[in-house]
Amino acid sequence: MSGNLTIALAKGRILNETLPLLARAGIEPEDDLSSSRKLVFETNHPNINLVLIRSADVPTYVQYGAADLGIAGKDVLMEHGGDGLYERVDLNISRCKLMTAGFVDKELPRGRLKVATKYPGITRQFFLKRGKQIEVIKLFGSMELAPIVGLSDLIVDLVDTGNTLRANGLVPLEHIMHISSRLILNRASLKMKNQAIKSLVSRIEQAVEYD
Ligand code: PRP
Repeated sequence: MSGNLTIALAKGRILNETLPLLARAGIEPEDDLSSSRKLVFETNHPNINLVLIRSADVPTYVQYGAADLGIAGKDVLMEHGGDGLYERVDLNISRCKLMTAGFVDKELPRGRLKVATKYPGITRQFFLKRGKQIEVIKLFGSMELAPIVGLSDLIVDLVDTGNTLRANGLVPLEHIMHISSRLILNRASLKMKNQAIKSLVSRIEQAVEYD
């Protein structure tokens, strides 16, 4: 089965930009991924399958070789750490910023700040570099609520249009990094299925649209 390839895709917003990119690379799923409850999908290529999982799980599937390739945000990849992975192509999709955010006029406590986030690793590193002591409060979504209910002083979250922050009376404060989706490869698959992966990567690379 040296030619069979599995690509791990993330559910949610990122999928809306991933599927057109794959279509431009000539890869089309046999079912509608957005409406189906299935997790494994065949494509128009008999040797290429897709698995649809939570974005934070994409690097794990690829790390352990359960998927040969994956498409995940740089935020998720940074937080994962990248063991066993090879980050191959910046796909220039799902672009946004990772930022700290909080209330515009609120004075922050002098001591340890409480920061709510989905990204404890990136957050600790960011504040450590600034010499700031923080307590990370790990959440899995809706971070904007945390400062409103007094769970945290700040949040670290993705900002795209800024609408979610605005709608909750928060403002973006410090820019941590630019985010976009990346094509990642399992290191062992790259050796074992070199030809098949190379040809697929090349098709995907050619499908990337630059500004
Ligand atoms: C993301 C992010 C923000 C929002 C930012 O959440 O966590 O809440 O999008 O986008 P905006 O700046 O355009 O408003 P998402 O909707 O992906 O859901 P999540 O809370 O499950 O991460």
